Parts: sequence; C-alpha cells; structure tokens
Amino acid sequence: MLALIKQGSMVKGIINLFVFFSLFSLYPTDGFDPLDVNANVTIQWDIMEMNPGTYSADITIYNYQLYRHIEWPPGWSLSWEWQENEVIWNMQGAEAKEQGVCNKTLGTPPPHCCLKNPVIIDLQPGTPLTKQAANCCKGGVLTSMTQDPTKYISHFQMTVGHASTDHAANMKMPKNFKFGSPGYTCGHAEKVHPPTKFPEDGGRRWRQALRTFRVTCMYSQFKAWPAPTCCVSLSAFYSETITFCPNCSCGCQQQPGSSCLKNGQIPPVIKRPTTDPDYVPPPLAKCTSHMCPIHVHWHIKQSYKGYWRVKITIMNLNVRKNYTAWNLAVEHPNLANLTQVFSFNYMPLARDRPTNDTGLFWGMQYYNDVLLQSGQTGNVQTEMLFMKVPGVFTFDAGWAFPKRVYFNGENCVMPLPVDFPRLPKEKWNVGK
Ligand SMILES: *[C@@H]1O[C@H](CO)[C@@H](O)[C@H](O)[C@H]1NC(C)=O
Ligand SMILES: *[C@@H]1O[C@H](CO)[C@@H](O)[C@H](O)[C@H]1NC(C)=O
Ligand SMILES: *[C@@H]1O[C@H](CO)[C@@H](O)[C@H](O)[C@H]1NC(C)=O
Ligand SMILES: *[C@@H]1O[C@H](CO)[C@@H](O)[C@H](O)[C@H]1NC(C)=O
Ligand SMILES: *[C@@H]1O[C@H](CO)[C@@H](O)[C@H](O)[C@H]1NC(C)=O
Ligand SMILES: *[C@@H]1O[C@H](CO)[C@@H](O)[C@H](O)[C@H]1NC(C)=O
Repeated sequence: MLALIKQGSMVKGIINLFVFFSLFSLYPTDGFDPLDVNANVTIQWDIMEMNPGTYSADITIYNYQLYRHIEWPPGWSLSWEWQENEVIWNMQGAEAKEQGVCNKTLGTPPPHCCLKNPVIIDLQPGTPLTKQAANCCKGGVLTSMTQDPTKYISHFQMTVGHASTDHAANMKMPKNFKFGSPGYTCGHAEKVHPPTKFPEDGGRRWRQALRTFRVTCMYSQFKAWPAPTCCVSLSAFYSETITFCPNCSCGCQQQPGSSCLKNGQIPPVIKRPTTDPDYVPPPLAKCTSHMCPIHVHWHIKQSYKGYWRVKITIMNLNVRKNYTAWNLAVEHPNLANLTQVFSFNYMPLARDRPTNDTGLFWGMQYYNDVLLQSGQTGNVQTEMLFMKVPGVFTFDAGWAFPKRVYFNGENCVMPLPVDFPRLPKEKWNVGK
C-alpha cells in the first residue's frame, strides 16, 4: 500500500518535470508574439548636420509594442560599438553612463563620452531645460502604445566627433546595437530612404535629415527570463473544482538554486548599493506550488439570460516589486461582445487581427494602476459582463475560459484543458 502511494507520487513528480520542461519548449524563441505580430522597438538614427570633424545625430526610440512597456527602475538603456575612434562631444536629452578615459589631445572640456561601447540612459524628469531634448527625460520609461500613446517615444541628440580623421563625411554607422531591458535583440542599422522629415512652423515647412538609419529590436520572453513568470488558475460557479496553476509553472520549490519566502517569514534585507540609484533587487516570491510571482485567477461568476459574468483577480506574490502601469492581455472569443468592464480600463487589440478576440486590461490611474507588492494589498480585481451570442456561447468544453493570458507581455502558464472545471453532466444546458 505504502509502496503504491510512493510510486504514485513519483509518477506525479515525473509528470511535473515533464510539464515543466514541455512548457519551455512551447516558448517561441524568435520573439514572435501571436497577439502582437508586428511588435518591435525601433531606433531611428537621423543625421541632421555634418561639419568638418563632427556631425549631429537625433536618436529616437519608438516602442512599437501594444502592451509591453519598459519601467523605471532601471528604465531603458541603449548601447552600440563605434567603428572608428568616435567620441560623443555633447548630449541633450540623455547621458552616457560612463565618460571613460578621454585622450588629452582632445582638449578641455573633454568630450561627454570617449568609450568604444557607450551605454546611454535617459535623464530623470525635472532635468534642467538646458539639458533636455523633445520627448526626453522620463527616467527611461517607455509605455506601450495602447496604455499611453503619448509616452512610447524617447529622444535624444548628440554631437559626434572623430578622434583621428577630420571629415564627418567618412562617418560609419556604429554596430552591435543593444537595447537594454532584458530579452531584446537588435538587428543591424539599415539605411532608410528617403530620410525622415521633421515638421517646422506648425507643419508649414518640413526639415529633412541628411541621412536616416533604423535598427529594429525584438523581444523574446525566452531570452529575458529562464522560466515563465506568471500562471493562471480557473474556477466556475457551476463546478466544485478549482483548477490551480499547474505545479512548477515557474519553477519548483525543491529545485536547487530556487528561493522563495515561506509563510510568516520576513524577507531578508538586501543591501542596496549606494552607487546605483537604478538598482532593481532580485525578485523574491512567496513559496507556492507554482512559484510564480504573478498569479491570475479567472472565475466564471454568474450566468444571466443574455449575459454572463467573469471575475478576474491578479495577485502579486513578489515581495520586492510594485508593478506600476501593469497590464493584462487576454484572448477570448467572446471579447468581441464584451459589454461592461468594472474598475479596469479596457481596449480591444484589433491591430493586425481579423477579429476582436483579444483585448488589454489595465488599472485606473490613482485607483488600481499600481499592483502593490505582496504583503501590502498585493492584488487587483475586476468583473466584466459578456453578451451571449446565440449559437456561439457555451459553458461546454471550457469555452468560457481564456485561450491566452499575458501579464505585462509575459505569457502566463495555463492549466491543461483536461483539468478545466467542467459542467456537471446533468446540467449540460445551463445558462443557454
Ligand atoms: C516595427 O513596428 C512598426 C509599427 O508597428 C511597423 O511599421 C514595422 O514594420 C515594424 N518593423 C518590423 C521590422 O517588424
Ligand atoms: C591620443 O591622440 C593622438 C592624436 O590622435 C594619438 O597619437 C595618441 O596615440 C592618442 N593617445 C591615446 C592614449 O590613445
Ligand atoms: C501539486 O503540488 C501539491 C502540493 O505541493 C500537491 O499536493 C499536488 O498533488 C500536486 N499536483 C499534482 C498534479 O502533482
Ligand atoms: C511599494 O509601494 C509601497 C507603498 O507605496 C511602498 O511602501 C514599498 O516600499 C514599495 N516597494 C518597492 C519595492 O518599491
Ligand atoms: C458580437 O460581436 C461580433 C463582432 O464584433 C458582431 O458581429 C456580433 O453582431 C456581436 N453579437 C451580438 C449579439 O452583439
Ligand atoms: C473591434 O471593436 C472595436 C471597438 O469595439 C471596433 O471599432 C472595431 O471595428 C472592431 N473590429 C472588428 C474587426 O470587429
């Protein structure tokens, strides 16, 4: 008998391991996101002026993603490798993290940055106007296009000089661009023709760059994190079953190297390095069977004659992070007929998709736009009302549960359909 139980739990363990690894293999490695097929971050490099020995460039970063955003701390960073001995004489709207050692022959004051691989970061809000450029100084925050269409662009200007030759016309575009926020990979700089036009005089005149280059960077969750960071659990008014997040969705407690906070334990104090104001402490989640810092619960709450109601709860189990401007992307066929959403903002993600089966939820400003760390509130919730479309709507076969869920652009691990709560057999027609 005992042996039988032991064997049973070993089989379960093996199944868990299998689920854990097969989840990884489901990950797209090329950065393709089925809910946002054109998602990319574009770096536009406009050469505005060329002088003997120097040129000036306007760099604009566009976050062309529907729901993935870049937060502070630490905010975005951008780096590249100069092909000649270039130096950055001057910068507006951003700064190089390190100046590096400048050649004495360059005179005083020395250039802003003399490194072969400069790392550029945004300035903080409230920077003196003399150091600013248009669309700058947001602490490296880039919102998604959906959540705040006014803040998904960042821009800075710089004067680049050549330390050896004195003709800017020889300029070579730098290579090895890196967009810093975990998970991004950038391509080569490509020349764009015609160069960018900039409006002047209220759009009456158009100024044009001398040359324009573009670098495209793509996100891949697989490259950003070693494991998923979010999972989904399910329940319904018509079933006793609660389908929990799959065990080991984001890691296993017994796994070597995994750490988590046991109930009642106080999070260890981390020494914040005084030298880095943008330091982000490593995540620490409460110990659970799924080990995810974010847990989303979808509950089918009620069925009315022509409508049905869902309650969504998002729980933050990370004791070291408040998620500011969080968002939740959901794919469900009934979203085309979403009638009402309580206490969250909502927008359909219709771009490049033939149907309205995907939408984005996010918090209301000053009310629930910050998902506080575990231990303080630690959750946000909403209810929503869907219209039943005759001939399509059903509680059968898990249709009423979401097909995909993303938290802040990270794909959440879903339970397997065979584990979904089911209708009691004798009530197949409930709610129809
Ligand atoms: C990047 O996104 C923009 C805006 O959606 C799109 O026009 C462009 O084609 C995308 N670039 C790539 C290489 O996917
Ligand atoms: C400094 O610049 C001069 C003139 O271009 C060059 O000869 C010298 O090697 C440079 N020194 C260093 C340390 O790079
Ligand atoms: C998941 O883990 C819990 C507790 O760690 C355990 O009781 C349960 O049997 C596990 N479920 C599966 C399907 O292995
Ligand atoms: C999260 O916000 C709360 C309340 O504003 C604050 O007390 C806490 O220190 C914040 N946590 C982090 C990691 O910033
Ligand atoms: C549901 O949405 C679809 C797509 O927008 C629309 O064609 C259909 O008429 C809607 N059904 C109802 C009952 O409103
Ligand atoms: C999706 O919904 C929006 C607003 O509800 C509507 O403007 C748009 O036409 C819909 N698109 C499709 C493809 O049904």
